[in-house]
Amino acid sequence: MTGYLATPLAFPNSSPSGFTMLEDEPQFDPVRHLQIEYPTDVLSLAELGYSDEEIAECPTDFAVTSIFRILSDEGIAAMLETARKLEPFTTSNARIARNVRGGVYRSRFLRDLCQCEELTESLSKICGIPLLPHTLPHQLGHLNYNPLEVGENVDKWHVDTLRIDFVMFVTDPKLVAGGEFEYYRGTKHEVAQLSAAGEPLDSSKIVAPDMPGPGYAVLQQGNMVVHRAKGLREAGERITMVNGYVPRDISFPDFSRFDQLYLVDPKDVAASEYTRHMSWMARERLSADLDSFAFSEDKEAMAEKFEQLADLMAATAKDLREAGRAKVEHFGDG
Ligand SMILES: [Fe+2]
Repeated sequence: MTGYLATPLAFPNSSPSGFTMLEDEPQFDPVRHLQIEYPTDVLSLAELGYSDEEIAECPTDFAVTSIFRILSDEGIAAMLETARKLEPFTTSNARIARNVRGGVYRSRFLRDLCQCEELTESLSKICGIPLLPHTLPHQLGHLNYNPLEVGENVDKWHVDTLRIDFVMFVTDPKLVAGGEFEYYRGTKHEVAQLSAAGEPLDSSKIVAPDMPGPGYAVLQQGNMVVHRAKGLREAGERITMVNGYVPRDISFPDFSRFDQLYLVDPKDVAASEYTRHMSWMARERLSADLDSFAFSEDKEAMAEKFEQLADLMAATAKDLREAGRAKVEHFGDG
């Protein structure tokens, strides 16, 4: 940690084409809608089997929490109403049959909940580092809806295209058969090897936490914890909401996975949001340097800082030029 905390990036003051706001929405009120209860257990990356070197590249050694409550009963009702209003906007990709991304450009309620300072502060305490709501708006308030075909998994085994996120049930998991959220008590390398060899995952390492009701969630370092959402065994309604965060200390390597987002989000939106996010990151890195200015003879270190920034910008330009060549990554249905 550098000690410098990035200035939050405001939500864009214009919307991408094709995104219009819902009408007659509930108004988000943190006092009435939040009921945050802290998780009792937190698994570390070391407990999943990651090495010290791998953990050193992450902003925190936290991996995944036990289930904890986020929304009050009133908050759950408002979130469910919002999610149902957004259901006509579902799209599909190679991993997920029905999801809504960019709902924060359509729903003021969803945007305000996902950017709520009180919620962000609580989650920062849980994972041990200061967080900010994700600076790519399409990584806020992602909604998964059950596939229309019974039995089809909601989402395959995968790691996330961001670092920190929570998965919260919007519908009541007790009212449906199946639809469990599961994570793997192992590393992503282990799962990649099993998946490449066509072998099943070790069933003794699959954890399906008991979700007591809607409004409950799990917080995870999503790019390090392999997880999935199982299909329903009978027809029913299953909706979950995933909200993304970035570490507020921008000295950690950026983890945007723009190559993946370009494949699942509207291309103009993905490229524009990524450009905006990386401009923010560059600005904040310069601000951090200005903030820590001190007279020195070490011109090598000074030069290195500019080279690092130049490398970051060159890598961003390369990502933008090469977008569209990747494939959607996942580990299959296991
Ligand atoms: Fe995920």
